[in-house]
Amino acid sequence: NNMHVPLGLVTRFVVCLLALQSVYAEVSYSFQEEMKPGTVIGNIAKDLGLDINTLSARKARIDSEGNNERFCVVNLNTGDLSVAEKLDRESLCGTKPSCILVQELVLENPLELHRINLHVQDINDNSPQFKRDLIRMEIRESAEKGTRFSMEEAHDADIGKNSVQTYSLQKNDNFILMIDATKVELVLENKLDRETKQEINLLLTAVDGGSPQSSGTVMIHVTVLDANDNAPVFSQNVYKASVPENAPVNTVVVTVSATDADEGVNGDVTYDFGHVSETDGKVFSIDSKTGEIRVIGSTDFEKKNTFELRVMAKDGLGLSSYAKVYIDLTDENDNAPVIYLKSLTNPIPENVSPGTEVGIINVQDRDSETNGQVRCFIQQNVPFKLVPSIKNYYSLVSTGQLDREVVSDYNITISATDEGSPPLSSSKSVQLSVADINDNPPVFEEQSYSAYVSENNKPGSTLCSVSARDPDWRQNGTVIYSLLSGEVNGAPVSSYVSVNGDTGVIHAVRSFDYEQFRSFKVQVMARDNGSPPLSSNVTVSVFISDVNDNSPQILYPAPEGNSFMTELVPKAAHGGSLVSKVIAVDADSGQNAWLSYHIVKSTDPGLFSIGVHSGEIRTQRDISESDSMKQNLIVSVKDNGQPSLSATCSMYLLISDNLAEVPELKEMSNYENNSKLTSYLIIALVSVSTFFLTFIIIILGVRFCRRRKPRLLFDGAVAIPSAYLPPNYADVDGTGTLCSTYNYDAYLTTGSRTSDFKFVTSYNDNTLPADQTLRKSTTDFLEAFGDSDDSSQVRNPE
Ligand SMILES: *[C@@H]1O[C@H](CO)[C@@H](O)[C@H](O)[C@H]1NC(C)=O
Ligand SMILES: *[C@@H]1O[C@H](CO)[C@@H](O)[C@H](O)[C@H]1NC(C)=O
Ligand SMILES: *[C@@H]1O[C@H](CO)[C@@H](O)[C@H](O)[C@H]1NC(C)=O
Repeated sequence: NNMHVPLGLVTRFVVCLLALQSVYAEVSYSFQEEMKPGTVIGNIAKDLGLDINTLSARKARIDSEGNNERFCVVNLNTGDLSVAEKLDRESLCGTKPSCILVQELVLENPLELHRINLHVQDINDNSPQFKRDLIRMEIRESAEKGTRFSMEEAHDADIGKNSVQTYSLQKNDNFILMIDATKVELVLENKLDRETKQEINLLLTAVDGGSPQSSGTVMIHVTVLDANDNAPVFSQNVYKASVPENAPVNTVVVTVSATDADEGVNGDVTYDFGHVSETDGKVFSIDSKTGEIRVIGSTDFEKKNTFELRVMAKDGLGLSSYAKVYIDLTDENDNAPVIYLKSLTNPIPENVSPGTEVGIINVQDRDSETNGQVRCFIQQNVPFKLVPSIKNYYSLVSTGQLDREVVSDYNITISATDEGSPPLSSSKSVQLSVADINDNPPVFEEQSYSAYVSENNKPGSTLCSVSARDPDWRQNGTVIYSLLSGEVNGAPVSSYVSVNGDTGVIHAVRSFDYEQFRSFKVQVMARDNGSPPLSSNVTVSVFISDVNDNSPQILYPAPEGNSFMTELVPKAAHGGSLVSKVIAVDADSGQNAWLSYHIVKSTDPGLFSIGVHSGEIRTQRDISESDSMKQNLIVSVKDNGQPSLSATCSMYLLISDNLAEVPELKEMSNYENNSKLTSYLIIALVSVSTFFLTFIIIILGVRFCRRRKPRLLFDGAVAIPSAYLPPNYADVDGTGTLCSTYNYDAYLTTGSRTSDFKFVTSYNDNTLPADQTLRKSTTDFLEAFGDSDDSSQVRNPE
C-alpha cells in the first residue's frame, strides 16, 4: 500500500535546532492535498538520522500538537512516513496562504521529540463559483454609453493561482467587461434600445489559473426598462471593523450604507450579502433595511479571526453595487493553558542521578500574544523541576537523589498560568513511582548478641535469635541468615551452633561442657536476596554457665581402698598440731567447687579434727601413751552445688616417732601385697623423696635469699609451684574455694618426711585428666615414679 509519489511533488527540509538540544529537530515535508491514504511522503528515519532497528523499541509514534488529529503515520519497520487520510487543504486551512500541519515524532529512551511540519499544497480541485446561477438586472434604455454596473465576484476555494484569475464575457452587442483589483464591472458600450431588444442574456465566466483550468459561469439576465438612472452607491468601497471574540449575539459590528440618487422605488436601497461561505453566514447577518451587520453566532478567535464579506446594495428596480467588509476578531483570554504529558519514564529507579530527564511536558494556550504566554511550574516541594526546552516544551528533570525507602511515589502537580488579564491557569498531576534498587544492607537490630546457656544442654535447644531489617523492596529486602565459617577450639563453628536462615533463631548443635570452654563467639551474616546481595555481620557470644556435674576429686590422700599411705604423727604432738591435710579439687566453678571437709568416721573420734574449708587435720588434744598407734579417718569432701556432690577418702595415721616402725604398715594396709614389694617401694620412695627434698630446699633457699625477708617456715616444708596444677585450680578465686596459694603453698608438719614425698607423688598422679578417677593399682603407681612426666598421662593445661 506504499504508493511512492513522483519526486518533486514532495519536498522536504530538515532543520536541526542545534542551538537547543540535538534531540529536537524539525523536519518539513511538502506534498499536495487529496493524496490517497498510505502515500509515502518521506522517510523520517533517514531524514532524522535515526536507526531504523530501534524505532519500534523506542516506541516511535506520531503525536499531534494539542489534541488535533493525526495526519500521518510512521512505519516502524521502514521509517516511512505516509499520509493517514485524504487531506483537503481547503477544509484544513481555508484561505490561509500556506497550510502547515504540525505533527511530532516522539521517541523514548532517551526521550526525543522531533517536529514534523506538513506543508499541504493546494491543487486545483475547486472551480470558481458564483453565488447564484442567474443575476437579474434592470437597466433603463436611457443609460449612457460608458455606464458601469458592478458584478458579483466569483469565489474559488483554492488559493493562489488556483483561485479566480480572470473573467470573460460572452460576446454581445452592448456590454464589455472591465476588471480591476477590487471589482468586476459591466460597461455599456453601445446604448440599449428597448424597442429592438427588450431582454438580453449575457454569460459571464470566471476562470482560475490552475492546470487544468476550471471555470464557473453565471447567466446575467438584463431587462431593458424605460427609466431608473442611478444605481445605489456605497459610502465606502471597503469597510473595516473589529469585534472581540465571543461577542454577544446581536452586537452590531459595522453598518454599511449606500445611497441612490433616484426617488421612490428607484431610490429604495436594500442590503444583502454577496458571496459568503456557509460558515460565515452563520456568524454574521446583515439587516436588509439598515445595513447593520450583527453577530448572530459564536465567534472564536482561535478558529477564525478574519472575515471577508461582500455586501450588495440594490435599489427597487434591480440596480446594485457591491462593497467589501473586513471584520477582524480581537483575542480575548478565553483559553486556559493545557498541559500535555508527552512522555514519562515511570517508574524511575531510585538511583537516577540528579538532572535525569524523566518526562516531557507540552503546554499549549490557544490564545495569542500575551494571552497565550504561559509560565509553567511545579507546586509542591518535590525533587523535580521543569526545564524549558524548545518552544512550549519542558523537560521534567530530577533535582536530587531519590530514595524509595523514604518516598516511593510522587504526585507532581504541574501548573501553567498565562499572562492574560485576568490570567487563566490549569494544572495536571503526574504520578511517578520510584523503583527499588538494592541499596540498603540488612541491619541487625542490636550491635551484638549474647546467649546464655547452662552446660549439658540438649542438642537442638534454642540459644537466642538474631534479627536484621532491610527496608528495600521484595527480594531486595528479604533477609537470609547464615553462619560465617570459623573455628571454636579448632572445630568448625557449625558443629557447635546452627542458625535458621529464615528466622534467625540460633540453635545449639551439641551439648556444651563448661569445663571445656566457658564462652565462644560466632559470626552471623544477614544477607538480602538482591543481586548483587548486600550483607552485614554480627557477633553472637555464647556464654555457658556451670552446672554441678563434677564431684570433688581428692588429690591427697589417694581415694579409699587404694591407699597404703600413712602419715606419721609424732608421739609428742600437742593438741592443735597439724598432722596432715586432705587436698581435693572440683572441676566445676563457683559454689559448685566450694569444698567442705568432714570426718565421717574415725578410730578415736576425739583425737583428730578437720578444718571445714582447709582440710587440715589437727590433733584435738595431746597424744597420750594410751592412744592406739594406728588411727584411721574417713573424710568426706562435699562441694556446695545444688545438689551437692561428694567424695570420701581414708587416711591412715601412725602415731610413731621413727620409720623403724614402718613395717607395721603392712598390717594396716588393706592390700595383700607381699612385704618385699612394700620394702622396695619404701626404699624407692625414700630415695626419690630425699632427692626431691634437696631440690626443694635449694629452691626455697633461692627464694629466701631473694626476698631477704625470711618467712617462718616449718622444717621440711614443701611448696608446690602452682604452674603444675590443672587449669581449673588456678582460676579459683579467694572468695570461692581455697585459693591456689593457700592450697599449694601449704606447708607440712615438722618431721613428716613421708608426707612430703607422698604429697608430691599424689600431686603428680593428679595431673591426669579430670574425668579420670585416681584409682590406680600399685604397679601403676610404681610406673608413675619411673616416668612422672609421661605426657600420655599428663593433661596439657591448654
Ligand atoms: C495528587 O495531587 C493532586 C493535587 O494535589 C490531587 O488532586 C490528587 O488526588 C493526588 N493524587 C494522588 C494519587 O494522591
Ligand atoms: C532490586 O534491586 C535491583 C537493583 O539493585 C533492581 O534491578 C530490581 O528491580 C530490584 N527488585 C525489586 C523487586 O524491586
Ligand atoms: C562479613 O564477613 C564476611 C566473611 O568474613 C565478609 O566477606 C564480609 O565482607 C563481611 N561483611 C561485612 C558487611 O563486614
